[in-house]
Amino acid sequence: MQAETGSDINRAKHELRKGNLVAIPTETVYGLAANGLDEQAITTIFLAKNRPQFNPLILHVCDKVAARKLTISWPEKAESLADAFWPGPLTLLLTKNAQIPDLITAGSPLVAIRVPSHPLTQSLLQAIDFPLAAPSANPSGYISPTTARHVQQQLGDRIAYILDGGEAGVGIESTIIGFNKQGNALLYRLGGLSLEAIEEVVGPVATAQKEHHKPATPGRLERHYAPETSFVISTRTDDLQQFKGKKIGALTFCEPWPKIDTDRQLLLSKEGDTSEAARNLFRMMRELDAMDLDLIVTELLPNEGLGPAINDRLRRASYDSRVD
Ligand code: TXA
Ligand code: MG
Repeated sequence: MQAETGSDINRAKHELRKGNLVAIPTETVYGLAANGLDEQAITTIFLAKNRPQFNPLILHVCDKVAARKLTISWPEKAESLADAFWPGPLTLLLTKNAQIPDLITAGSPLVAIRVPSHPLTQSLLQAIDFPLAAPSANPSGYISPTTARHVQQQLGDRIAYILDGGEAGVGIESTIIGFNKQGNALLYRLGGLSLEAIEEVVGPVATAQKEHHKPATPGRLERHYAPETSFVISTRTDDLQQFKGKKIGALTFCEPWPKIDTDRQLLLSKEGDTSEAARNLFRMMRELDAMDLDLIVTELLPNEGLGPAINDRLRRASYDSRVD
């Protein structure tokens, strides 16, 4: 059975109150939402995605005041970042209060919180009195969804309702920032808000070391965001001779790849704009994945704007991709 799709906030609210799953549009990617204070509802999220329970979930709330209520400490730099970028593609990792189930944080004292800007989801969050737990609405390990149709195709039989808010404007997941004991910002995941923009507000940001996150942030690990088709990062100087005889497609930044059939190539941004590339990234990965290719080649983007966050997704999608 497929989920009903529409823009009825009341319907979404009622389903969530009953403990059911609702897919929600956000400016980054679509989320698979449930009442974040209801352990049974949260368990349903893990089951629907086939997600291991050691991978914690982000809580979504309507504003900074609601976010603060979920925490027991609020560093000065959290305040500056919230003021500068919420609502928007930024998630903050903060010390949780006792009300938040351990299932949300996988036992960690830190909880990830985000205030999304998408108007439909904003209205929904304002209409309910609990936070929404929502991972990206894709089966664990696959590409995140940027349209309601993507969600329907893969998880439609497991969701009560899909709130359709059109195509996601940012296109990649939120940037995750935590804080060290001194209150300085630490980067946990590159995402839809560039590090340059964050550093303009709080100064230099160090990268959180793997051993410091307990639990690990699987968004940072190995193969992830991956199409079914083998996905390989290459360079223009590579003549692709080793793949001779294979049906090859390409996901390129702004220019087509020589020697590959142009029908099988998708350009992330003809203008060479990394924000446009982010918006197109996951949809184009899906389109290429549906072309029945033996192999998709791709290339890394320049290290500016959302380039590093996109490269992170490309590296993970290609990790351990075998060509045979
Ligand atoms: O843009 C986004 O962040 C989207 C939309 C739906 O909000 N959500 C999203 O959720 O990307 P998900 O579950 O696919 O990725 C969340 C990442 C995971 O890598 C998870 O490990 C990390 O956030 N995370 C969540 N809570 C954490 C915590 N308490 N400590 C460390 N990492 C955490
Ligand atoms: Mg995800």
